Amino acid sequence: MWKNGKSLSRGLRAALLCVCAAAALLAVGAGAVGWKKTADSLAGTRTRLASAEEERDRLEKTVSDAQSQLASEQERASELEARVSQLEERAAEAEAQNEKLEGENSALQAELDRVKKEAQTPAEPDGKKLIALTFDDGPGDTTTRLLDELKKRNMKATFFVVGNRVNRYASTLKRAADEGHEIGTHTYSHPNLTKLSLEEKAEEIQSSIQAITAITGKPVTLLRPPGGSYDDELKSYCGGQGLRIVYWSVDTRDWESHNKSSILSTAFQEGPYGIRNGAIVLMHDIYTDTVDAAVEMMDRLQKEGYTTVTVSELLQLRKNGGVAGEVYVSAPPQ
Ligand code: NI
Repeated sequence: MWKNGKSLSRGLRAALLCVCAAAALLAVGAGAVGWKKTADSLAGTRTRLASAEEERDRLEKTVSDAQSQLASEQERASELEARVSQLEERAAEAEAQNEKLEGENSALQAELDRVKKEAQTPAEPDGKKLIALTFDDGPGDTTTRLLDELKKRNMKATFFVVGNRVNRYASTLKRAADEGHEIGTHTYSHPNLTKLSLEEKAEEIQSSIQAITAITGKPVTLLRPPGGSYDDELKSYCGGQGLRIVYWSVDTRDWESHNKSSILSTAFQEGPYGIRNGAIVLMHDIYTDTVDAAVEMMDRLQKEGYTTVTVSELLQLRKNGGVAGEVYVSAPPQ
């Protein structure tokens, strides 16, 4: 209850003021809410922007990783391609080499077949068994003892001497020739003749023959090519020079074993590569073990009824004593 009109209007005014203040507060409050929403939305946008940027960075990194992986794979692919073409090249080379070897192999096989065929046909002139002992690579310090042993048994051998050694052993060579042994050439410096030009082959052979005949005074009609290596060019050259090419049917491999019993068992083996009638035996008179083996071999040959002759004597079993430029492995009758 109001006590009077004055206090009523004061009360009204106060009430109005309150209403106004409340309205103003509401308005401010509403404004504050609107600002807050805007701020929130801005923050959300910023967050999305940041995560979009992050996503972009991630994608960029993925792309650059993929690009560098692609580049390294391309590099690897080109390396592999190069390697493949290198391997292909090598394979082609190997194939060519293989073909060459097959060719050489069949030539060797043909030669081996010829040797076998020759060695399997025994020579039996008047029931006599003939054999030729041949000694390569000398003369040497051990040659004198061999000459002594041959002389004791009245046996003849053939020496294929190296031209650049003969002056050092001139008296040994002269003695061998004087005692009826045959001297053939084994070239001047023992090269593989098939690796030389025709002129070089001729030089090797002619200079050795000159060195030999200067000491022995006898012609040289036999050549044993070092290592047994010859070719058609050498054969045709020898054909024009009156030289027969002498191979062997019995390879004692004395230079390899340096062992007396091994040399003897190899020489006296059964079959076409062992000692038999018409055989040509290969040894080297520069080794002590070889001379020891040769001495025992001589006794055994004598016991078995062999006559030990020079290569030229053995080739008398051939038509005309053998033909210059031909290769002789042994001496069965033709
Ligand atoms: Ni030799």
